[in-house]
Amino acid sequence: MTASPSSARPSKEDKFSFGLWTVGWQARDPFGDATRPALDPVESVHRLAELGAYGLTFHDDDLIPFGSDDAARDKQIARFSEALAETGLVVPMVTTNLFTHPVFKDGAFTSNDRDIRRYALRKVMRNLDLAAQLGAETYVFWGGREGAESDAAKDIRAALDRYREGIDLLAQYVVDRGYGIRFAIEPKPNEPRGDILLPTVGHALAFISELEHSEMVGVNPEVGHEQMAGLNFAAGIAQALWQGKLFHIDLNGQRGIKFDQDLVFGHGDLLNAFFLVDLLENGPDGGPAYTGPRHFDYKPARTEDITGVWASAAANMRTYLLLKERAAAFRADPDVQAALTASRVGELSKPTLAEGESYADLLADRSAYEEFDADAAGARGLGAVHLTQLAVEHLLGAR
Ligand code: GCO
Ligand code: MN
Ligand code: MN
Repeated sequence: MTASPSSARPSKEDKFSFGLWTVGWQARDPFGDATRPALDPVESVHRLAELGAYGLTFHDDDLIPFGSDDAARDKQIARFSEALAETGLVVPMVTTNLFTHPVFKDGAFTSNDRDIRRYALRKVMRNLDLAAQLGAETYVFWGGREGAESDAAKDIRAALDRYREGIDLLAQYVVDRGYGIRFAIEPKPNEPRGDILLPTVGHALAFISELEHSEMVGVNPEVGHEQMAGLNFAAGIAQALWQGKLFHIDLNGQRGIKFDQDLVFGHGDLLNAFFLVDLLENGPDGGPAYTGPRHFDYKPARTEDITGVWASAAANMRTYLLLKERAAAFRADPDVQAALTASRVGELSKPTLAEGESYADLLADRSAYEEFDADAAGARGLGAVHLTQLAVEHLLGAR
């Protein structure tokens, strides 16, 4: 039996959110001018609500142009808040632009210039107040300019000290103000810097363990960023979940190790996207393993006009829902269940030693070593290819 066309339509319960900077991207790239006019954030609120999103996120400068005076700032916040109230859209996450202005060309928290580091902290504190005012639960730190092109011009250990000092100070600020906000660090290996600090999920998790308020800091991994480093995104997300650190997620698409493409979700490594959605939606106890926003951080292709922008926003959500349907069908298929059993996938959840068993007991267990038939165990096939093919067939609607 083949799958019938899906009528999946996004609704607020799906918790889909978008960055203002995604649909609002005017498609300026290092080689070419903008191909689209600027979008009013208020229009984005209305269009995304109509399409079925539940949330909107932004960098301070996406909403309030850099350098605006207080009156212009207040007016823009009021307009935006009014649109949110009209549509019921929420702001689950907020972040800071610490990369566009030339002042940040050598970094923000890790700039060699101390005055710039102090300025960056003040810019974040100001925007944290707004994030709290709008009810955001997560504050993302993407350190796009925290890095270098020259091994001589950046003392990496000192930079990590300053990075930690910055995050520690901001965490203390959030605690003292009583804001219910958690931090999520977004790794990226390169672009715009030649090398960026905290380049992968693994680096970020290790850094977080060195922080004063490490319990309130997690990660915001982005599909394409891990894939730019040649890594398996779903596997990285599994480790972040395992460590209780998946505070937020940036969904998009990427095709291989090259510049950051920010394609529509699923328009890159589709099979890994399938296993990612399966991981997020089908947790060990049957419910979802991740309950936060499904946040799309993509760029509508430079070739598209404004109609294409909204079509691409809808495509992200539809692809996610289709993958969720296919993952549910995969899990419900008796052939898949049999293949999982044959591959002993569930057996990995069983501790290697029995309850109360010690290494002395293991040493005394002759069946574990002296009588163990390593050749027979080594000859057994895993059946992983069959299992993967079943996933591919569900993905293609062939089962
Ligand atoms: C990128 C990044 C950014 C960050 C955003 C949040 O594409 O390199 O994803 O879009 O997510 O700036 O601060
Ligand atoms: Mn990106
Ligand atoms: Mn991102």
